[in-house]
Amino acid sequence: MHSEIKEVLISEKQIQEKCKEIGAQLSEEYKGRFPLAIGVLKGAMPFMADVLKRVDTHLEMDFMDVSSYSGMKSSGEVKIVKDLDTQVEGRDILIIEDIIDSGLTLSYLVDLFKYRQANSIKIVTLLDKPAGRKSAIKADTIGFEVPDEFVVGYGLDYNEKYRNLPYIGILKPEVYGG
Ligand code: PRP
Ligand code: MN
Ligand code: MG
Repeated sequence: MHSEIKEVLISEKQIQEKCKEIGAQLSEEYKGRFPLAIGVLKGAMPFMADVLKRVDTHLEMDFMDVSSYSGMKSSGEVKIVKDLDTQVEGRDILIIEDIIDSGLTLSYLVDLFKYRQANSIKIVTLLDKPAGRKSAIKADTIGFEVPDEFVVGYGLDYNEKYRNLPYIGILKPEVYGG
């Protein structure tokens, strides 16, 4: 599998250091509160696990799975595949993502949680790809900015593969027929 990777963009060590740093920051921010941390499936799974184990305050975890309508490419229409089990009203929401690309997934979720009357909404993302943006969404905390390349690993997939890599890498173009 590693032979299909052209270049390691962010190493396992860099990711783990960043998780510690963000975890410490979140511990301060949410001290004495009880935030609802929401992981966006499936990509956010490894980052959510690694960052939240560094948070030194009580928190609740829940998960949401959404998908964009692929028939209407980038239309901004997002559909809920799995909703939360938890009430959002009055809660301090921390959305955890692996990457913000167009921003459409997160704009939808932020609007949804506003509609459900969250007390506050913050976004933490491991990666930000500003070049892909189609919607004016900004994360409160960003691990790393990435160039306009197809990145995989540590939650990010290509055809459901590579999520289990411990690093973020760039796929060889021949793998996706480029
Ligand atoms: C990917 C990624 C983000 C989203 C970012 O998820 O994990 O959730 O796309 O793209 P956007 O900013 O353009 O909306 P995907 O929908 O591929 O599902 P997955 O997490 O299950 O891979
Ligand atoms: Mn995702
Ligand atoms: Mg995906």
